[in-house]
Amino acid sequence: MAIKDVSEKTVQQLISLQGKVAVITGGARGIGLGVARRFAEVGATVVIADLRQSDADEAADSISKAFGGRAFGVTVDVTDEASVVALADTAVRELGRLDIWVNNAGIFPGAVTTDLLTADWDTVQGVNLRGTFIGCREAARRMIAQEPKGGVIINVASVRGIRGGPNLAAYTASKHGVVGLTKALGIELGQHDIRVLGLAPTGVDTPGAAARTANATGAELERVTAKRKSIAASLPLGRTGTADDIARVALFCASDMSILMTGSTLLVDAGGLA
Ligand SMILES: NC(=O)c1ccc[n+]([C@@H]2O[C@H](COP(=O)([O-])OP(=O)(O)OC[C@H]3O[C@@H](n4cnc5c(N)ncnc54)[C@H](O)[C@@H]3O)[C@@H](O)[C@H]2O)c1
Repeated sequence: MAIKDVSEKTVQQLISLQGKVAVITGGARGIGLGVARRFAEVGATVVIADLRQSDADEAADSISKAFGGRAFGVTVDVTDEASVVALADTAVRELGRLDIWVNNAGIFPGAVTTDLLTADWDTVQGVNLRGTFIGCREAARRMIAQEPKGGVIINVASVRGIRGGPNLAAYTASKHGVVGLTKALGIELGQHDIRVLGLAPTGVDTPGAAARTANATGAELERVTAKRKSIAASLPLGRTGTADDIARVALFCASDMSILMTGSTLLVDAGGLA
């Protein structure tokens, strides 16, 4: 069966997420919080899933207050399979269905590759790639089982999922994996009316990005600081991103605006990769 044709709908109808249930991993801050806010603004019930219950609850409360809709905080560690299964089960049990799942939780520690410990490599793959895989699988299982079936899965990759760069080997490999996973699942899940899309942001000003600078030392600190200064100037649109720059593209992906798109990763890169 082919995906529905929505050409007769108004833009307002197309962009609406009214009645939809969306789960956002790493939704308590940064890009994930920005995504949750835009989804809630257009009517979605949002589940903010993050490591600490208090952070998730605080984000959910702020969203409920701002937009008046329903928002819930749930604890998840995407490296823990049982925890992701429990998150998906909770969403379906409490809210009736699952329409949108955003695999956003991610970490981006930098390291010179000759100093990179295998354990640190594994940690990055565990959150960014394995965590995204488990999220995709659990979302897809429930989207296939529900009536009407289908949904949208959004994977937050990075420009480092398309292009390489120094001192980010583990991150770059993990995000290339996310882009590949998005292609594979876009093809495999289309028959179930599940669309799978990736986002490839350029640098975005978030608490995680700020902490990276704060935690760096020595040569890595010099490199990160210099990079942050030069990167904005080098971009054709003259600045790096805000969480909301990415969130608006996530909304396009989650909504019927993008109904004939799957398997692709959208660059939100200020023209950097052009
Ligand atoms: N900030 C950037 O410059 C940038 C650029 C491109 C892509 N990205 C990607 O965007 C995503 C979000 O990044 P951000 O900058 O908003 O980061 P952030 O650190 O500001 O926020 C990430 C959130 O994910 C949560 N998280 C981390 N590990 C988790 C886990 N194991 N289980 C559940 N939640 C977990 C954190 O608690 C935090 O709330 C990441 O996948 C990142 O790789 C970020």
